[in-house]
Amino acid sequence: MKLGFAMRLASLFPVVVFSGVASSRAFQQRRLVAPETQHVLGNSASSSHRRPQLPILLNPSGGNVPPAGFAAFGDSYSAGIGTGVNGKEDECRHGLGAHPQLIAADLLASQGGRNASSFQFLSCTGATTQDMLSGVQDSQVDTFNVSLPVDFALLSMGGNDLGFFDVINACVFRFYNFYSGTCEAALANAKAQIESDEFDQRLNVIITEILDKVRWEKKPSFLITVTGYARFFNDVTDECDDMSFGIWWNGPKLKKDLRINMNAMVVTVNAKLRKTVDRVNSRFTKDKLVFVDYDEKFDGHRFCEPNVTEPDYGRTDTWFFLVGGPDNARNGTRPQHISDFKTLPPNSALVDPTSCLEPAQASGDWGELALCYMAMSKYEDPTLQLARGDFVAKNSMWYVPTYYGKTFHPRSLGHEVMRDKIYEVWDTLE
Ligand SMILES: *[C@@H]1O[C@H](CO)[C@@H](O)[C@H](O)[C@H]1NC(C)=O
Ligand SMILES: *[C@@H]1O[C@H](CO)[C@@H](O)[C@H](O)[C@H]1NC(C)=O
Ligand SMILES: *[C@@H]1O[C@H](CO)[C@@H](O)[C@H](O)[C@H]1NC(C)=O
Ligand SMILES: *[C@@H]1O[C@H](CO)[C@@H](O)[C@H](O)[C@H]1NC(C)=O
Repeated sequence: MKLGFAMRLASLFPVVVFSGVASSRAFQQRRLVAPETQHVLGNSASSSHRRPQLPILLNPSGGNVPPAGFAAFGDSYSAGIGTGVNGKEDECRHGLGAHPQLIAADLLASQGGRNASSFQFLSCTGATTQDMLSGVQDSQVDTFNVSLPVDFALLSMGGNDLGFFDVINACVFRFYNFYSGTCEAALANAKAQIESDEFDQRLNVIITEILDKVRWEKKPSFLITVTGYARFFNDVTDECDDMSFGIWWNGPKLKKDLRINMNAMVVTVNAKLRKTVDRVNSRFTKDKLVFVDYDEKFDGHRFCEPNVTEPDYGRTDTWFFLVGGPDNARNGTRPQHISDFKTLPPNSALVDPTSCLEPAQASGDWGELALCYMAMSKYEDPTLQLARGDFVAKNSMWYVPTYYGKTFHPRSLGHEVMRDKIYEVWDTLE
């Protein structure tokens, strides 16, 4: 039965192979040593961009020595899924265009090529607050090495805890077809999660764990920069009312109401993050955290902008990924190859609709969930047709989880403005 099933599946997913276990949360830590790694970091989009100043505020000695190291914590918005890799994609789907990488490149450059600096890239696609807490397997907080220089930290958290994927699945793509649940239910569930105190409490604990680990009382200038999310849509244009991102034929339309509701979810999450940041700060005499809201910078760069026919795979000015869409790194900076992405081992099981769900849910990886839901849909109804089968057939990357997982995540130009907004906010600090 399994084989027949695999063959049926294979007609839809020619080469879907899948590792049946939740990926281990590999972490990366690099000592940035100039100049050997500079050609790698020099690839970051910042090389063609105003070189911002790293804030002197973050310098523990207060003099003119730049900060020597930092750590990035959090989810795929920090990991930079889809923004290019050197060699093979890692388990956490770190991308070269991720804003923490751009900041690491500036940090290195600020050292004039003389000093080694340290960047711990702990963020991981699929991470929730639960995966960060000390004591859990592959905890980001436990992996954090404070023997290395750490003058500040970046943190992106919330989207996975608060059900972004469920909303995007139910309202936009419907990977699991009819079983994806209603958009209203997914939005209501996200709202309930956002309104509950559970997320704030966990975030509070994580922040306290990071601060304790760096011994904040001995490091008065240590600052955690918390980033939010950007609204996905222009929600006033009429054209999009008739357009769809649905995976299967007859998918949901991008009606204004839907766009407004999904944008509202993002705004609410940002407000919640800001509130949590303020609450933690109120416990200290000097702020330990700063919240960076870069949402407005995405104006004009969302889905459904005027005169855009979605899905528009050719529009560089859209700063979010479409399913299988290319990145928009500045030309010449980061070519993308199929082999860059984590392909699955040849001897792993085919996506098995009867058993893929649990590991996919455990991983929290949107791409793994999407692929599993698609396999399950096709299993339930072999007559289902992909809405864009023509496009899919021409794109050999379509079976790679990242192909789906990167959707609704910032592309390289989006990460550049996230970095710029972080610098802007740092500049306003005393
Ligand atoms: C960093 O560079 C400065 C100036 O060249 C030097 O005084 C200092 O010892 C260097 N620090 C390290 C850790 O190499
Ligand atoms: C932490 O960093 C120090 C300094 O580079 C290194 O010696 C040590 O092995 C690291 N610890 C872990 C657990 O990686
Ligand atoms: C959209 O197209 C119309 C008609 O071609 C044009 O008048 C308008 O300026 C365009 N709007 C934008 C924002 O490009
Ligand atoms: C890269 O070049 C292509 C072709 O000239 C152009 O359409 C695209 O907008 C460029 N991308 C960026 C990010 O500048």
